[in-house]
Amino acid sequence: MKQDTDNILSVDDVAREASHLARQGPSRDDLARLAGANPVLDINGLYAGYGKMKILHGVDLQLGAGQSLCLIGPNGAGKSTVLHSIYGFTRIFGGRINLAGRDITNLPPNAKLRDAGVAYILQDNSVFPDMTVEENLWMGGYLMKHPDQAKEAAERIFTKYPRLAQRRGRPAKVLSGGERRLLEISRALVMSPEVLLVDEPSIGLEPRFIDMVFEILTDLQKSDGKTIVMVEQNAKKGLQFADLGYVLVAGQLAMAASGDELLDHPDVGRLFLGG
Ligand SMILES: Nc1ncnc2c1ncn2[C@@H]1O[C@H](COP(=O)(O)OP(=O)(O)O)[C@@H](O)[C@H]1O
Ligand SMILES: [Mg+2]
Repeated sequence: MKQDTDNILSVDDVAREASHLARQGPSRDDLARLAGANPVLDINGLYAGYGKMKILHGVDLQLGAGQSLCLIGPNGAGKSTVLHSIYGFTRIFGGRINLAGRDITNLPPNAKLRDAGVAYILQDNSVFPDMTVEENLWMGGYLMKHPDQAKEAAERIFTKYPRLAQRRGRPAKVLSGGERRLLEISRALVMSPEVLLVDEPSIGLEPRFIDMVFEILTDLQKSDGKTIVMVEQNAKKGLQFADLGYVLVAGQLAMAASGDELLDHPDVGRLFLGG
């Protein structure tokens, strides 16, 4: 395949240029201004990784209740690791994660979901193909005391999303890509979380389904007041959706601004928006 090599930045080019951006990251005051008067999620100086490997080096994050944030940056920058750390999948070497004034730094994932109102959606989280749509939703309530509670929650979800209700008795494997993504998101809603951690919602979807998924997320934020932290490879879509955008480079915050400002920023455009 012939490519216009003049206009194509290699992965190394992007990483090198992005690391220049990272030299002078935003201050905590900058982040506080963006988060507004009602911060709900506050990450302070987070060092985290896997095993002995440190991936995040002093990451800060502040988000207001009902706000949405999209993390962008090069592959391997540690974007998913930020979500993993909030949910409790990483080893935390230092720093603090506060949610609604409570220190949740060392809370394990099940407790995050059951007691702290945080849900993690997607990337390595997929539907059970041979179970029905309905059974998949019930699985989302596996931490509930009584199975009836999960069933009630599933009914609420069917009321909200008729297109899932129509297929409630069918195995999940017959769903289209977009419907499957909707089911993945809905399954996380069974526990009525306040904070949604969403990793690459558009990955692997046809364009028409990508718009659908962003509409669903917009509705969850605007109508249901969910607070959303998202990672999105499709940086343009992610920043159009989100109130705030952070650029993460090599495990550090390089930039933070409103989604619109980042969309218009020339360096961000050149490095991450493909033009
Ligand atoms: N579960 C894991 N175990 C060990 N290393 C991991 C794991 N997940 C990610 N990593 C490593 O952490 C680094 C950052 O990955 P990740 O957070 O997925 O980046 P991004 O989402 O920005 O592409 C990469 O070097 C990756 O190989
Ligand atoms: Mg990732």
